[in-house]
Amino acid sequence: MLEPRAEFNEQFWSGLEKHFDQKGFLVGLTSIYWRESWKYGERAFRYCNHDIGHAMACLSFSANLLGWKTTYLNSLSTEEIGIILGLQKTTWKEFEREEPELLLFVHEDSEDFDRRNIPPDIINSFDSLHFNGEPNQLSKDHEDWYVIDEVSSETSKPVTKGEIYCYKEHEYFEKEIPEMSGEGAIRQRRSAQSYDGNTAITKNEFFTISDKTIPRSHSAPFDLEPGDISVHLLIYVHRIVGLDSGLYFLIRNEEDLADVKQNCHPYFFWKMVHDAPNMLNLYLLQKGDFRQEATFASCQQDIAGDGAFSVGMIAKFKENVENNPFLYRRLFWETGMIGQVLYLEAEAHSVRGTGIGCFFDDVVHKLLGFDDNTYQSLYHFTIGGALEDTRITTLPPYHHLKNCKS
Ligand SMILES: Cc1cc2nc3c(=O)[nH]c(=O)nc-3n(C[C@H](O)[C@H](O)[C@H](O)COP(=O)(O)O)c2cc1C
Repeated sequence: MLEPRAEFNEQFWSGLEKHFDQKGFLVGLTSIYWRESWKYGERAFRYCNHDIGHAMACLSFSANLLGWKTTYLNSLSTEEIGIILGLQKTTWKEFEREEPELLLFVHEDSEDFDRRNIPPDIINSFDSLHFNGEPNQLSKDHEDWYVIDEVSSETSKPVTKGEIYCYKEHEYFEKEIPEMSGEGAIRQRRSAQSYDGNTAITKNEFFTISDKTIPRSHSAPFDLEPGDISVHLLIYVHRIVGLDSGLYFLIRNEEDLADVKQNCHPYFFWKMVHDAPNMLNLYLLQKGDFRQEATFASCQQDIAGDGAFSVGMIAKFKENVENNPFLYRRLFWETGMIGQVLYLEAEAHSVRGTGIGCFFDDVVHKLLGFDDNTYQSLYHFTIGGALEDTRITTLPPYHHLKNCKS
């Protein structure tokens, strides 16, 4: 489905290559809110941003398998990205506007790559290009979910100083390379539509999967540098052999531990799980059967209670978003990236995952004891033994292109 939108010569590109001092290519991600809001209404804004996070991780993993690295150019403003992608020059159909989200540079995997910006003169040179094409009309009728445009405009990113983010380099808990290849996991990944309410995973499998959500500087997907780590995992353990059922909390950024604790009910244990790997700040909050609570919090979807465990992603919210409204988008990106890691890890361990964008944040906050949105639930996820729907045919990826001649 690739379509050339604008052409330029080598000289045009050489300015960028000189700036980056690397060969590579740019990938821009954008959202057409209407593609989600026709179905989900206001919630479309968050779903689009969840999807951006999933796509960021997909790109990072895929580039990594080819020996490349993906770097998020975090200095650029939303407007600059729009110029580079030619979105400003496009005439949009009413209610079907496309929003610039972020620009990534895919390049050789070199340790010393330190560029996170594109100089203004190069950005402006994109403005001189002729952009082809006219957007298709997606729908005849529309609903005006104007609050989405409001929040989109409030959260657009200004130009900022390029930041390099370093995460800790700790060994992975998993020492043996799994039998399934990265490509295999990516190609077979699907969402489970229902779970058997029976399959359990082992404690070590759970530790392995959770450990992969902790960023490392030199490993995909977080080597893309999404920013400061602000999302933690509330985990409802349902069926994990060797681990009590109950509520757990995985702190992904130690700096927040005391603050999270202070915001939660005082009666939680906060007992560190001893045999968890070194770097896994995993705490037991409360033992018990939380299947019903998990299901209810995920809009009463059984998938949240019928798996081995499910997750509520809890972001440090109020302070982040008040200081920098753009973080409202970026926090969703972080949750989406975690979701993509969980999807692939589930496949690699012979279970299956499902992203859960429909959830009741107030219910989660009540369960944890939050009085305000200092911390905020932003995304849910579930993993377990999937029930296959045999009415649905699964064809290999790109099957539809097999008959194409070119
Ligand atoms: C951000 C996001 C939110 C989702 N929310 C739900 C949900 O609330 N309930 C559900 O059953 N599936 C949910 N899904 C799964 C999607 O329905 C599924 O990804 C989509 O149908 C495509 O199928 P695939 O993942 O097998 O490629 C979600 C997926 C994503 C990425």
